[in-house]
Amino acid sequence: MKLLLISAVVAALCVASSVGLDNGLGRTPQMGFNTWNHFGCNINETIIRSTVDAMIDTGLTAVGYNYINLDDCWALNRTAAGVIVADPVAFPSGIAALASYVHSKGLLFGVYSDAGTKTCAGRPGSLGYEKIDAQTYASWGVDYLKYDNCNAPADQTPMVRYPVMRDALNATGRPIFFSMCEWGDYDPAKWAAPVGNSWRTTGDVSDSWSRIITILEANEPLWKAAGPGGWNDPDMLEVGNGVLSTTEYTSHFTLWALMKAPLIIGCDVTKMTNDTLRILTNTEVIEWNQDSLGIQGHRVKRGLLSEVWMAPLANGRFAVVLFNTDPLLSAHMTVTWAELGLTAGSKYTARDVWQHKNVGLYAGTFDAQVAPKGVVAVTLVPA
Ligand SMILES: *[C@@H]1O[C@H](CO)[C@@H](O)[C@H](O)[C@H]1NC(C)=O
Ligand SMILES: *[C@@H]1O[C@H](CO)[C@@H](O)[C@H](O)[C@H]1NC(C)=O
Ligand SMILES: *[C@@H]1O[C@H](CO)[C@@H](O)[C@H](O)[C@H]1NC(C)=O
Ligand SMILES: *[C@@H]1O[C@H](CO)[C@@H](O)[C@H](O)[C@H]1NC(C)=O
Repeated sequence: MKLLLISAVVAALCVASSVGLDNGLGRTPQMGFNTWNHFGCNINETIIRSTVDAMIDTGLTAVGYNYINLDDCWALNRTAAGVIVADPVAFPSGIAALASYVHSKGLLFGVYSDAGTKTCAGRPGSLGYEKIDAQTYASWGVDYLKYDNCNAPADQTPMVRYPVMRDALNATGRPIFFSMCEWGDYDPAKWAAPVGNSWRTTGDVSDSWSRIITILEANEPLWKAAGPGGWNDPDMLEVGNGVLSTTEYTSHFTLWALMKAPLIIGCDVTKMTNDTLRILTNTEVIEWNQDSLGIQGHRVKRGLLSEVWMAPLANGRFAVVLFNTDPLLSAHMTVTWAELGLTAGSKYTARDVWQHKNVGLYAGTFDAQVAPKGVVAVTLVPA
């Protein structure tokens, strides 16, 4: 009896807790590509097909980027019966054919809509058309919906409008990842877990260092809300869009991965530099993001121009990031086991996930020299 009870308790503890929407999706943060950050409204089926081909040829899909998602501007209008119609000039073969192309490559396909009367770019929104739109998406083979919040009636909050689309998607019987985008306006970290698989926590990212720092600040305190099935979304990646330095993109990617952010590529993958591809395909950093515990990394220590972030990982390991926010000067940074919440006297091998090598055995403290705006990122493995 006692033994039975113990095994029941152990079994219960072993079932990974789920915070998100109960559709079986998003057990780890979603990875893929979205058109917006690079192409904006200038999208068409040729671009998507070349993107798919490039993602495969460069090895991006092999490391996990499996969703190919359209953002705004694919839809044009509705038929008299209310069925959404794709722009026939940009998508002459239709969305179903594009979805089928994506599926033929073993990948998943996403579209975009809006919980208002019109999308942000003025295309038809889904408010009042949730059921028919969800059915259309499902009939096309859509696997993912990003759902924006422009042109919404002021007297209906996202808490009212987003569950309508959730239920419409569910009623199709097709598992469709529900990516909510109400920009954090109504504190979705507090209520969105039963509604979506991810929820934007901030306004849009841009290819700007100060914007990335602002978003980090806003997303960090929400870490307890994230977990398997439902993730805080600080917006997509800007890596490869050309404004920031390789060091800045490396820090951006490392901290997004540590925060269990969706890893959605937003550059032109047909024209990546070697550094862009090297950053986006760092499997050791991707493993942090896709770790089975699903605990969002957060800041454990902050100085004037220095920050230490960490996330527990499966198998007693810890991801630790020393982040030097000084724009000009390199810094020597140290963190103690007490600051990281590790047991005093325990020993860890530090694996540098950018140098791809073990950098030593540590007991009590970890320290390193960190470049301006740079990170030193290590996995601490129990020795
Ligand atoms: C949708 O747009 C197309 C192209 O402009 C036009 O031919 C068609 O009449 C429009 N349909 C409706 C219902 O407005
Ligand atoms: C898509 O856009 C590209 C670049 O502007 C252009 O070369 C191509 O012909 C377009 N394809 C379609 C189907 O509009
Ligand atoms: C619909 O919701 C139910 C109840 O939460 C869930 O069990 C089911 O898996 C969902 N189905 C789809 C297709 O999302
Ligand atoms: C980029 O990588 C390719 C393949 O490894 C190599 O041939 C090429 O020289 C590299 N380009 C630069 C600018 O380093």
